[in-house]
Amino acid sequence: MMRIEFELNGEPRVLETPAERRLLAILREDFGLTGAKPGCEVGRCGACMVWLDDLPTNACLVMAWQLDGRSVTTVEAIAADPRSESVRAALAECGGLQCGYCTPGLVVTMTHLADCSPRPDAACARAQLAGNLCRCTGYGGIQRAVERLFPTADAGD
Ligand code: FES
Ligand code: FES
Repeated sequence: MMRIEFELNGEPRVLETPAERRLLAILREDFGLTGAKPGCEVGRCGACMVWLDDLPTNACLVMAWQLDGRSVTTVEAIAADPRSESVRAALAECGGLQCGYCTPGLVVTMTHLADCSPRPDAACARAQLAGNLCRCTGYGGIQRAVERLFPTADAGD
């Protein structure tokens, strides 16, 4: 067991837990934060995406010992953050969700990209979303949401 102090959704937290426990399990089992989803659990699908020190990170790959002194923000806090409003609206209005399992992870990554300065263009945003897979595989709506949110680079630039 080890003692970990970290910030979770803006609140200081202290945890006594085995060092090798995964952040995804800690969020879901210890804090009831079930927005981050278990998918592949090996860092390939993005269903468990959170911000770790404000950067999109797969929670299934972060061990408890790596959390000490860090800041974790989950989709529960991001969805309540006005910065995610345009992302959530674009996904909903462009048909970017089917079963919805991948949607929290997409919101986490896309809100980060939408908040970057400067914002990536659509091609760059698509590339950076490569770590967020949709098992329903209908990427058309997600693609339309990306096109709405991110500027398309002018041809010839
Ligand atoms: S469950 Fe973490 S990347 Fe798939
Ligand atoms: S909408 Fe079902 S996994 Fe993406």
